[in-house]
Amino acid sequence: MQKIALFKESRTGETRVALTPDAVKSLVSDGWNVVVQRGAGQRAHFTDEAYTAVGATIEDSPSGEFNLRVNPPTLEEVGRLPEGSMHLSFLSPLLAQEIVKALNARHITILSFDLVPRISRAQYMDALSSQATVSGYRAALAGANYFDRFYPLLTTAAGTIRPAKVLVMGVGVAGLQAIATSKRLGAKVRAYDVRSAAKEEAESAGAVFVKLGVTADAAGGYARELTPEETAAQQAALLSEVANADVVITTAAVPGRKSPTLMTTAMVEAMGEGSLVIDMAADGGGNCELTKVGEVVEHNGVRVVGMANPPSEMGASASFMFANNVLKLLGLFGSKGELNPDWNDEVVIGVTVARDGAVNHAPTAEALGLTHVAITPEIKENA
Ligand code: NAI
Repeated sequence: MQKIALFKESRTGETRVALTPDAVKSLVSDGWNVVVQRGAGQRAHFTDEAYTAVGATIEDSPSGEFNLRVNPPTLEEVGRLPEGSMHLSFLSPLLAQEIVKALNARHITILSFDLVPRISRAQYMDALSSQATVSGYRAALAGANYFDRFYPLLTTAAGTIRPAKVLVMGVGVAGLQAIATSKRLGAKVRAYDVRSAAKEEAESAGAVFVKLGVTADAAGGYARELTPEETAAQQAALLSEVANADVVITTAAVPGRKSPTLMTTAMVEAMGEGSLVIDMAADGGGNCELTKVGEVVEHNGVRVVGMANPPSEMGASASFMFANNVLKLLGLFGSKGELNPDWNDEVVIGVTVARDGAVNHAPTAEALGLTHVAITPEIKENA
């Protein structure tokens, strides 16, 4: 029987935990030994007693063959992981190169949730999407919360209220949720993205799509980074859209890179007194020039809200979804209490940053100046 260690998150402000008691229950019934770090679920309202009730043990400093957390470990935490074990988190290896180096030096097999391939079969294990759903929802609520006017059209004896005008920039998973939630609250929603497929998706969620003539489709259904010329054209074309919005919600991201700047200071200055910018991408560098992570910046009567780690604003639901993703992904790495990854599976290969000291993720190998050793079925046969 092999051991899964569930860690308490050390990131400031984090409320999530990678497994809920229900998820632990299903692992225990599948034969795994689950060790939970004391207080791991506390901030998402899952008590130590709830974990022990389903068969986990509580320890102050757990370790296992499979080590699990939401955020990357610190260097000190890496030092406490057993050599040759497995680690799974939202690592974003290109943004955590020192951690990757330290894990790899200890021959820890490194799995990163943000590398789950965007294919239909992998949707159940796609934590990037589940957490983006929470973020988009929270961003829409933040808009309604900070706005000092109503969202819906109201005809009352005390006068008629016009609906709020929300503009969502970036129509990925989070943007679609922000559109749907703002719409449910009664706002009139417009939306913009550089991917051509986004138009239909935005419309199906209830927004009017803004066409600007700048498209930037890239492999895997993602957006590519815009050239400086395209960025300038985009910003110029967006000016009147932004000026016309009461609330702008920005969610634009490019995987592995700093978030693109969609909102310049001049664009914020074109907005009306009392308008809002909700920057959901603040953690990744922000989509607005004025954004400060975790702060509300006021500029010319416009408030710019820099959301820091929005999924942690809803730790219980975010953990519930994350834990379900973990169960599905873990299912590809072993069952019945034994790790036995299928190294022929494209999802298993896709999420593996490095294995046994060899870096499988080509961009990480390049960034670290290490030889890229792709996992192939032949390697399995020789192993
Ligand atoms: P993301 O978090 O990488 O980016 C958010 C949005 O920002 C994207 O829609 C992107 O096009 C947009 N964006 C980037 N640069 C921009 C710019 N300069 N101006 C305006 N918008 C910009 O996106 P997310 O949510 O990860 O989705 C990316 C793609 O993956 C989408 O096509 C989505 O439908 C697809 N997807 C597929 C899944 C599957 O098949 N398993 C699961 C989830 C998403």
